[in-house]
Amino acid sequence: MIVLGSNSEIAQAFVEKTLSASDQFSKIYLFTSNKETTEKFAKHLEVKYVQQSVIIELDLLQPIDYTTFDEIDSDLLFCATGYLGEGTEEGLYDNKNTEKIIDINYAKLIPVLNFFASKMERQRSGTMIVLSSVAGERGRQSNFIYGSAKAGLTAYLSGLRNYMFGKRVHVLTIKPGFMDTKMTEGLPLNPKLTSTPKQTAEGIYKAFKKGKNVAYVLPIWGVIMMVIRNIPEFIFKKLKF
Ligand SMILES: NC(=O)c1ccc[n+]([C@@H]2O[C@H](COP(=O)([O-])OP(=O)(O)OC[C@H]3O[C@@H](n4cnc5c(N)ncnc54)[C@H](OP(=O)(O)O)[C@@H]3O)[C@@H](O)[C@H]2O)c1
Repeated sequence: MIVLGSNSEIAQAFVEKTLSASDQFSKIYLFTSNKETTEKFAKHLEVKYVQQSVIIELDLLQPIDYTTFDEIDSDLLFCATGYLGEGTEEGLYDNKNTEKIIDINYAKLIPVLNFFASKMERQRSGTMIVLSSVAGERGRQSNFIYGSAKAGLTAYLSGLRNYMFGKRVHVLTIKPGFMDTKMTEGLPLNPKLTSTPKQTAEGIYKAFKKGKNVAYVLPIWGVIMMVIRNIPEFIFKKLKF
């Protein structure tokens, strides 16, 4: 199993859920931009579930040497990589912040996903589970740089799923609403619309096992986004959210 963004609580909860439900995986590759914080989790997995957990440094903001990933293959890839950044007016006009959001959520992430997609295509099997966001469905004033990068990611995943059809490779796009993680720390989230990492992992696992193409974590977000998508633009542009 390959995990991108291994320090995400969602990634760790999903790995725990998957490994406790199946003994199919003997080796796990934990990609991370922060090796030290991943070590405890890697050890925990070796004690409880797998023969070997390999930590691999991957900082999307640094040049990537793909040859170091040549030997890495798996039937399952889970990607929780993402960066919210500053959605405030200050953040919006800070080019460093803008570039970082676009790079981590889209521009530098797609080549990595493509690299592993090509391996799955060659081995003619595999599932890629990637976390995008409801934020990618319609740009809103509070986070539209992040939202636009997620929109690009969602479009990429849709095209990849279409391309892989008939090649035994499946792509599952997850579009979470609010999740209670370090990314949203300090934000005033409505608890009824917010899922915990454990709930999120359960929801993703269910969608994975059912072979779904696209899944919202909490079903209510499917309804909310249907409404949001259908608000006429002349009204939408006046809303503050
Ligand atoms: N939290 C929410 O409400 C929410 C809502 C909708 C969608 N999402 C999406 O869900 C996914 C998981 O989110 P989360 O809430 O678990 O956020 P998180 O805790 O911030 O996890 C995101 C992970 O992305 C990886 N990452 C960040 N910068 C990186 C870089 N420069 N290079 C490589 N990896 C980098 C980090 O993993 P390492 O430290 O291991 O490198 C980080 O732990 C993300 O894609 C996020 O955009 C979150």
